[in-house]
Amino acid sequence: MNFKKEFDERVENIERVIRDYLPKETGYQKTVLEAMNYSMLAGGKRLRPMLMEETFRLFGGTNEDEIEPFMAAMEMIHTYSLVHDDLPAMDNDEYRRGRKTTHVVFGEAIGILAGDGLLNFAYETASKAYHYSVADENSAMLEKEQLLERIQHGNRIMKAMNVLAKKPGIYGMLGGQVIDVEATGKTIDKDRLDVIYEWKTAALIEASMMIGAILAGATDADVEVIREIALSIGLAFQIQDDILDETSTMQVLGKPIHSDEKNEKTTYVTLFGIEEAKQYVKDLSKQAVEKYQSLNKTNEYLEALIYYLIDREK
Ligand code: IPE
Ligand code: IPE
Ligand code: MG
Ligand code: MG
Ligand code: MG
Repeated sequence: MNFKKEFDERVENIERVIRDYLPKETGYQKTVLEAMNYSMLAGGKRLRPMLMEETFRLFGGTNEDEIEPFMAAMEMIHTYSLVHDDLPAMDNDEYRRGRKTTHVVFGEAIGILAGDGLLNFAYETASKAYHYSVADENSAMLEKEQLLERIQHGNRIMKAMNVLAKKPGIYGMLGGQVIDVEATGKTIDKDRLDVIYEWKTAALIEASMMIGAILAGATDADVEVIREIALSIGLAFQIQDDILDETSTMQVLGKPIHSDEKNEKTTYVTLFGIEEAKQYVKDLSKQAVEKYQSLNKTNEYLEALIYYLIDREK
């Protein structure tokens, strides 16, 4: 497999999906729409929608109209988390995805509102995955099978919506950011740091892969295995982010390096050093691959993607 080619094709498709769902920049509130689109269209690896779609494929999902609104929604939520993470009251960073951060270009108030806007619009977007209208249901004399498909479609979407609401919130990403902010300037131990990483970073990766599985009709037991795989990928992803904050450059990352040092954050690098941190990335990724193999399902690209992330340079 030519991984790079496959990767680029997927990113291109995700960019199309994202563009399809972004708001038009018109109306009196135009500024906030421009700020939302500015942050969304700045690029980024698009890893979360990619993991969502690949997990969907792993479980045999084919209905693009069902998965695509959720892919766009997940990237909106992730982007909102970055816009707010960069605010002066949080990490106070001035570059993101190779551009000035949203609050630097549009001002702090619009930066906050653009983040809020993306969060709300994500749910409006995801809800478009539901195809049928109520009038439709009432008027048509549906066959039993058609009725069953509608019920299952509705159930899948409600389940996916629940994950999309919970994982970014107080028991997920936002909760993790709270502990992260409160730990600033303090040394914390590995257990607490792991909770921060599980919540601030892995939660959105868990949500992405769980939603992919749910929409493809996976069983609850398989969705739980997927969550565990995503947790390992997510922890490894954040540890690699810490390493790159120390070893990369702003040109490559598109965001400032040494942000963690500036903000006096405890990270895997401060606790264990670069080499041991790298070993954690490898071990966690290996755990993810082993769990993936235990599912006895194949998506070659997904497996290659997990390996690729171990040595990612941005
Ligand atoms: C950055 O996420 C925030 C972390 C959770 C480490 P990404 O590294 O996925 O950022 P983009 O989407 O590629 O910009
Ligand atoms: C990311 O943590 C967690 C988020 C929820 C955004 P970081 O603060 O390390 O992310 P970067 O390095 O700014 O992308
Ligand atoms: Mg942060
Ligand atoms: Mg940050
Ligand atoms: Mg970081």
